[in-house]
Amino acid sequence: MQRCALTLVLAFSSAALALDNGLMRTPPMGWLAWERFRCDIDCQNDPQNCISETLFTDMADRLAEDGWRELGYVYINIDDCWSSKERDNQGRLQADPKRFPRGIPRLSRYIHDRGLKLGIYGDIGTHTCGGYPGTTLDKVQTDAQTFADWGIDMLKLDGCYSNSTYQELGYPMMSKALNATGRPIGYSCSWPAYQGGLPPKVNYTQLGQICNLWRNYADIQDSWDSVLGIVDWFFENQDVLQPAAGPGQWNDPDMLLIGDFGLSLDQSRAQMALWAIMAAPLFMSNDLRTISSGARAILQNKVAIGINQDQRGVQGRRLIKEKSGIEVYLRPLSNGASALVFFSRRTDMPYRYMTSLKTLGYTAGVYEAFDVFPEKRLPELKDTTEFVVSVNPSGVVMWYIYPAADWWKGAEPSRFSEKLIGPKFHRYANEAYAPLVL
Ligand SMILES: *[C@@H]1O[C@H](CO)[C@@H](O)[C@H](O)[C@H]1NC(C)=O
Ligand SMILES: *[C@@H]1O[C@H](CO)[C@@H](O)[C@H](O)[C@H]1NC(C)=O
Ligand SMILES: *[C@@H]1O[C@H](CO)[C@@H](O)[C@H](O)[C@H]1NC(C)=O
Repeated sequence: MQRCALTLVLAFSSAALALDNGLMRTPPMGWLAWERFRCDIDCQNDPQNCISETLFTDMADRLAEDGWRELGYVYINIDDCWSSKERDNQGRLQADPKRFPRGIPRLSRYIHDRGLKLGIYGDIGTHTCGGYPGTTLDKVQTDAQTFADWGIDMLKLDGCYSNSTYQELGYPMMSKALNATGRPIGYSCSWPAYQGGLPPKVNYTQLGQICNLWRNYADIQDSWDSVLGIVDWFFENQDVLQPAAGPGQWNDPDMLLIGDFGLSLDQSRAQMALWAIMAAPLFMSNDLRTISSGARAILQNKVAIGINQDQRGVQGRRLIKEKSGIEVYLRPLSNGASALVFFSRRTDMPYRYMTSLKTLGYTAGVYEAFDVFPEKRLPELKDTTEFVVSVNPSGVVMWYIYPAADWWKGAEPSRFSEKLIGPKFHRYANEAYAPLVL
């Protein structure tokens, strides 16, 4: 067993100088087309699922009407394959006229009218990954201005058909060009993913100064293997990645698969929990028109969202990796609170893991905890109290935990306690203690 309790406090640093556009002080949330809808451009035969204005207006309706927007899921983001294969006669990008007959400005108005924000996609290279016109260096200013003129709120800039010299010039150049438009546009950089994601090739100090979020690693696919591969890479490299994140600048382990085909409900809870620990952007890529109630409940879990959106913006870390296949993750939150995740890599049956808060590095005292997915308050815990959590195979137990005394002193209200779970949490807090699962 590896324990790092003693270094707990020192190990959690957060980044300083963020990109100064005032955006994304907490990880951005919304919906992104790519993982679920890819480059389906066959609107003749597959009108419901092709990349077209209908897809985005349908999803915007769902975000606005089904309770997503109020929880913070406000971005609706176009990915590759939206544009025409040719720029217009003034050298500007233009939407495919058949699939977006009313153009992006009209779509943008539709999205804004519903209290949502619109994201778009480009590529710093000769072509996008799907073979559409790229943004070569001479086109950076033009494209930034076009996006601003259209009322775009976020840009994902990919890095296909490019190289390291080109990216080193292009990503900072686009950051300046977006700023020069005067329109606040969230900026997602795929740069590190094309350079192996690690120093010395990747400079996270610089990324924090030019981008609001960045894709560090490979694209997510609709499978548990893909989620595990991403989790492994991010936590094996946590000493490099964790300090890079902070308000306005986030590591992006890629989209949420919850509601698609590859994950069980336990695996879906695990993705939600680990993305909350990572302070990851929460971009769903699913079909909100047909999503199951089980997937919806996980994505709309207010405490999980509250943990993800904690205003301190400190990314969490893996604390313990047991031989048994149980792992423990921790993220420090506002008001002396924290989030704990117990994750099982086992493939047999629910595993009864015994530990104590003291073992996990908590300071002496009395704590209260809330079990996030069953939405259940737990009995008061002393740091020395030994407890058992039962963790399902490829599942998690996630706790929101805080010092009992501090909570009742009425610590400074945070977005977490007030806006998201305030009344509900207080209701649970006043109920009789639930028995601890033993
Ligand atoms: C542009 O950058 C300046 C200085 O960093 C900042 O004050 C300003 O808010 C930025 N404007 C936009 C639109 O991002
Ligand atoms: C990088 O890509 C640009 C644009 O395609 C090209 O002009 C340049 O020669 C490439 N540089 C290298 C080192 O391959
Ligand atoms: C990384 O970027 C920062 C900010 O741009 C710069 O000051 C620093 O020298 C860079 N580090 C390396 C190793 O290049």
